[in-house]
Amino acid sequence: MIMFDNASSTSVKRSEGQRPLVDNSRTATARAHSNIAFVKYWGNCDHRLRLPANSSISMNLSALHTTTTVDWNGRLDADQLTINGIAAGEGALGRARDHLDALRRRFGVNAFASVTSRNNFPMGTGIASSASAFAALTAAAAAAARFELPEREMSALARLGSGSAARSVPAGYVEWHAGSSHETSFAESFAPPQHWNLVDVIAIVSREHKQVGSSAGHETAASSALQPARVASAPARCDAVKSAILRRDFDHFASVVEEDSNLMHAVMMTSQPPLFYWDPLSLVIMKAVRRWRQQEGIPVCYTLDAGPNVHCICLASEADAVSGRLLALSEGIDVMQSGVGAGACVLPPV
Ligand code: DP6
Repeated sequence: MIMFDNASSTSVKRSEGQRPLVDNSRTATARAHSNIAFVKYWGNCDHRLRLPANSSISMNLSALHTTTTVDWNGRLDADQLTINGIAAGEGALGRARDHLDALRRRFGVNAFASVTSRNNFPMGTGIASSASAFAALTAAAAAAARFELPEREMSALARLGSGSAARSVPAGYVEWHAGSSHETSFAESFAPPQHWNLVDVIAIVSREHKQVGSSAGHETAASSALQPARVASAPARCDAVKSAILRRDFDHFASVVEEDSNLMHAVMMTSQPPLFYWDPLSLVIMKAVRRWRQQEGIPVCYTLDAGPNVHCICLASEADAVSGRLLALSEGIDVMQSGVGAGACVLPPV
């Protein structure tokens, strides 16, 4: 029997005009965008709660999103997960199940969920991200349970599924405050998408699935002698990047974003075991991007996550020219473009 027991929740508003239980199930659909970090999250103080070692800064990516429907359904005897029309394997299902357990506890739901998720970006490009997936799952699960959460609590809940998902809940340019507890570790927007028309031109150099995922990588960060220095200096980079975004100062923005990416990869490369995410082509692109900016004055800079693809951040006016230059560098490069994206939202029922 499905149960929606919200009696224990005091800080959460129940939505008005709740729909009655139809056929013993409650369904909602939500959409969330992926994001690219300018000051990176790498390493946790608390792995179980995903409390990060440092605060981070990102922008949502309008072109890359996940749309997820959650059906809390009293007739199910296990959670189900379908991604892009295919039943998920045990790895993805297990991670979703752990997150659904946390959401069941928070919402007082005593039912399994059928989760149907679809990414609008092509699979196998190496840019699939857990950020949009867990932000959309959290927003849909809350809406299906008829909870209206304050944005910061939605962000904190999404963080339990994947750290970077906390940043995909608010819109536009976002700061994730590291915090020191579940409640204080959440992301919030500091500028709306239209504040500055930046574009992420993603140079896809490899379509291979990464060998060491972010979750395993976060656990090795503390083994690098460089991690304490990266973490200690992260607040200054957060302030610098945030202030450069607010002033739309591209040169200042570019130098800190590249420094932060290099610092994270230096930590990765000096961890036990070392993690080498770059391909030779990644370095070719990084050097070209710096040359274009420093010698030709093109407003573009690079940042790389836990993979070899290079995110080239530029002014929207330069995006096509940057794409053309990237394609001309090597036959092995594909490009995708994305502007600044909105926050997670619940979609109207169809
Ligand atoms: C390199 O959020 O993917 O992209 O919390 O284990 O899901 P989990 O890790 P994840 O880590 C993202 C790491 C990064 C940097 C960043 O996005 O800040």
